Amino acid sequence: MIDNLKWDSKFFKRKIGELKITPEFSHKINAAIKKAKADSFKYIICKVHPHQTAFIRILESLGFYLSDIGVTLTVDIDKLLNKAVYKDSPMIKAIRVANLKDIYMLKKMIKSFFLESRFYNDPFFSKEEADKLYQTWMENSVKKKAADIVFCIPDVGFITCKKNVTNIGEIGLVGVKKDFRGKAVGTALMKEAITWFKSQDINLVSVRTQLKNIDAMNFYLKLGCYVKGYDIVFAKIL
Ligand SMILES: CC(C)(COP(=O)(O)OP(=O)(O)OC[C@H]1O[C@@H](n2cnc3c(N)ncnc32)[C@H](O)[C@@H]1OP(=O)(O)O)[C@@H](O)C(=O)NCCC(=O)NCCS
Repeated sequence: MIDNLKWDSKFFKRKIGELKITPEFSHKINAAIKKAKADSFKYIICKVHPHQTAFIRILESLGFYLSDIGVTLTVDIDKLLNKAVYKDSPMIKAIRVANLKDIYMLKKMIKSFFLESRFYNDPFFSKEEADKLYQTWMENSVKKKAADIVFCIPDVGFITCKKNVTNIGEIGLVGVKKDFRGKAVGTALMKEAITWFKSQDINLVSVRTQLKNIDAMNFYLKLGCYVKGYDIVFAKIL
């Protein structure tokens, strides 16, 4: 009933688990929490479908709190590339593939970029841990462990691209430094990523963000992405 999230546990140096349970077995959650405590878990999450309102109330009554609302958006590559109107950024010429020498610059830049994410808002994680998580994600992306390719404009922005097993392209991290936002740099990075996915015979691209990340939501919607679904993450500190 509780899966050990091994990568998370190792990274955060505390045992982290995911409660996997369907609403009809919600009477077993209390026992599962007790067992998790006995097994030294320090934090558990439970992913919930938005329509499971009764189940959500049970989780809340057991001390779970809302940790994240994620939105998954998708875009059809041809539709996006054929879209006529784009503001073009002069920065587009500076976009290049990131290499190992860029890791230091990218890790410096990514610090405190994703302030809307779960890791910066859930009290279980410290700001330092959240920074380190995104820095590690970036490093692993450039090293091709967490992504297939990373494009960057040094000290301005970046985007990471990954082909998943079902041949859907995933944008993992996309960001533009504050001073350069609203100047079509993000759009230029997305176009570069989409063109690369197209060269890999991928037709559909998916990206997940937070519902409360208004800038990102507007950014993706303006690009022609549409909302595919959303997910809710509840959490409990043990
Ligand atoms: C999301 C982000 C990458 C957008 O990059 P950007 O370079 O500012 O985006 P663009 O200038 O290309 O904007 C394209 C469109 O997005 C929308 N948009 C971007 N920033 C916006 C903002 N602050 N408010 C409202 N809409 C915004 C607009 O519709 C804009 O088009 P317009 O300028 O013609 O109105 C950038 O805000 C960022 O780095 N945010 C922090 C990191 C992050 O949250 N990344 C996404 C997480 S998954």
